[in-house]
Amino acid sequence: MVTVVTHPLVQHKLSIMRDVRTGVKEFRELAGELSLLLAYEAMRDLDLAPERLHTPIVEDDFPMLSGKKLALVAILRAGLVMTDAIVQLVPAAKVGHIGLYRDPQTLAPVAYYNKLPADIAERRVFLTDPMLATGGSASAAIAFLKEAGATTIKLMCILAAPEGIQVIERDHPDVEIVVAAVDSHLNDHGYIVPGLGDAGDRIYGTK
Ligand code: PRP
Ligand code: URA
Repeated sequence: MVTVVTHPLVQHKLSIMRDVRTGVKEFRELAGELSLLLAYEAMRDLDLAPERLHTPIVEDDFPMLSGKKLALVAILRAGLVMTDAIVQLVPAAKVGHIGLYRDPQTLAPVAYYNKLPADIAERRVFLTDPMLATGGSASAAIAFLKEAGATTIKLMCILAAPEGIQVIERDHPDVEIVVAAVDSHLNDHGYIVPGLGDAGDRIYGTK
């Protein structure tokens, strides 16, 4: 299942990120802001349970988060900017990291690091990566998460290509994708068109 967040604020911020004139500082800030807006949507179905509280006026039951605890997992590098923002909303969440980069020739994901919360199997996992292009990186990261015991996983992306969505739907039909936009296609180098370029390079100023 794919949820495209069409909110005007999301679309406006995404358009500024696409603009080649947008510099590193603004791009990074926008990626963080967009991640918060995506999280608002991705976390819409978190469980609530009543808790007894005193307001300054009365005692009553009020809704508080309950159920499975949360884990945010970033696909390095670019997913970091998303988890760094979202953890401000859900400070009790544990944060994991999966290091993957795309081989520029084959476009296949290459794994170099993997550190997940020990109790990942008991947590709802929100996996972050701004770009879902061929889908190879996200599919491999989801497979790592499942090997580690995770059973409830949502993938949060800023931009996706139809090709990447098809790969996730084929490999992991149980994983919902929450994304700000689905673009037209991939070019011959595996970049999303019209896209926003290389997310990691634009976040960290490495090109
Ligand atoms: C980018 C992006 C995704 C991946 C998407 O990472 O952040 O992880 O490409 O492509 P895919 O869907 O075809 O696998 P990149 O490999 O550039 O690594 P980086 O984040 O370290 O720059
Ligand atoms: N990774 C990116 O950062 N951008 C793309 O367009 C495709 C993969």
